[in-house]
Amino acid sequence: MDPLVAAIDQGTSSTRFLVFNAKTAEVISHYQVEINQSFPKEGWVEEDPKEIMQSVYECMERTCEKLCQLNIDISNIKAVGVTNQRETTLVWDKETGEPLYNAIVWLDLRTQSTVERLINKAPGRNKNHLKHKTGLPISTYFSAVKLRWLLDNVDEVKQAVLSERALFGTVDSWIIWCLTGGRNGGVHCTDVSNASRTMLFNIHTMDWDPELCRYFDVPMEILPRVKSSSEIYGCMKSSSLVGVPISGCLGDQSAALVGQMCFREGQAKNTYGTGCFLLRNTGTKPVMSDHGLLTTVAYKLGKDEPACYALEGSVAIAGAVVRWLKDNMGIVQSSSEIEKLAAAVGTSYGCYFVPAFSGLYAPYWEPSARGIICGLTQFTNRNHLAFAALEAVCFQTREILDAMNQDSGIPLTQLQVDGGMTSNRLLMQLQADILCMPVVRPTMSETTALGAAMAAGAAEGVDVWSLSPGQLPHVMSEKYEPQINSDESEFRFARWKKAVQKAMNWET
Ligand code: G3P
Repeated sequence: MDPLVAAIDQGTSSTRFLVFNAKTAEVISHYQVEINQSFPKEGWVEEDPKEIMQSVYECMERTCEKLCQLNIDISNIKAVGVTNQRETTLVWDKETGEPLYNAIVWLDLRTQSTVERLINKAPGRNKNHLKHKTGLPISTYFSAVKLRWLLDNVDEVKQAVLSERALFGTVDSWIIWCLTGGRNGGVHCTDVSNASRTMLFNIHTMDWDPELCRYFDVPMEILPRVKSSSEIYGCMKSSSLVGVPISGCLGDQSAALVGQMCFREGQAKNTYGTGCFLLRNTGTKPVMSDHGLLTTVAYKLGKDEPACYALEGSVAIAGAVVRWLKDNMGIVQSSSEIEKLAAAVGTSYGCYFVPAFSGLYAPYWEPSARGIICGLTQFTNRNHLAFAALEAVCFQTREILDAMNQDSGIPLTQLQVDGGMTSNRLLMQLQADILCMPVVRPTMSETTALGAAMAAGAAEGVDVWSLSPGQLPHVMSEKYEPQINSDESEFRFARWKKAVQKAMNWET
């Protein structure tokens, strides 16, 4: 039997566990559990850390059961990788193993006033004041401000810090700590890709930065050890996979870059999940953006390997707009229904929907923007609204692709895509039309999990997977060519940009 490598993919909306054949990259078995989000106040988004861990265990156990039913011995699983929603912030008690507050999700806006205060105190009120070290603008998006909020507002967190019991982590750290023993010796670590999203990490020295920690007044003792994205962090201490090494760790967008085999400078991918994230590999050099993109650590595939960087365009709301139409508006009963609804009309009929529910991320970084729907007439119905929601995802991608092309000077000639929403063929065609460029989708859509599995299988001491180009797994793909002319595409995009201006200035 070929060796198997597994991945835990803990995203904003769901947790998955997937087992791959290391020779063919074929998915042998998998299981998925939805994750509840709570919105305790307007703009707040939380998840329960214990529910996250229960979902991880449930997915692993169910997948192992399925493997047994297929007569596959689970001892063939040689390594497990972890990939996760990034920036989401947790603090827990290392002695009790209990979370001290809910996880504050990356989309959460509660820190808007803190962010405004920090920007006001920066020289020239420059939101890019810390960009030379972090690659990031000061924004509600990143972990440091969320951690600051926890330290200021949650007594249990304050007390645990004073009594040296508090541990901070992003979701990867929480999962690895729990799986490697928790309060009985769990390993408290993160990888460079996740660390680079906290705003406490210096992307040049590749370590926590004392000056940044002072800026946010964060005690360095509570931070996890920063490791590479591919090495043995520890072994499973519980579940059916006891003893299996956990040897890959990547933020989900980095994992998708790896899973799409974008190892060469200039290669890029766009992942459509809860949000939408376009990353372009810039090789071993961090490239600073002049057009509102982030500079981030893409991966470091081994202790002694160099770090590779990426330029990133982040869109907060992509799949989340479909979830909103389902959960808040009741316009669809299931997410997959949106394609049929939109396809039935094939146009938004002049309706534009800017889903700025968490402000606007790249390239605007405007936390006070709010969602708007405009261009409504008595003729507009839920089909047009569904179409406008899908178009919004495509227009947002067009904005970050334009910024990426301006920054790099070498325009992309096609877009490699992945993520749950890419099974929506109408969306893929719309994306090709709005970009006026081909869109290429792998037929195996689980490239995020594949990337984490590849990192795990390539770790020294596991050595199942070789990441040398000639031996990389081959994943089939399909291509969508643009079907409208560029004048029409430009006309619609210009209208979208007007709608964005209204979303940014909705109060004035
Ligand atoms: O930065 C947030 C991102 O990592 C979330 O990804 O897949 O949950 O939309 P996803």
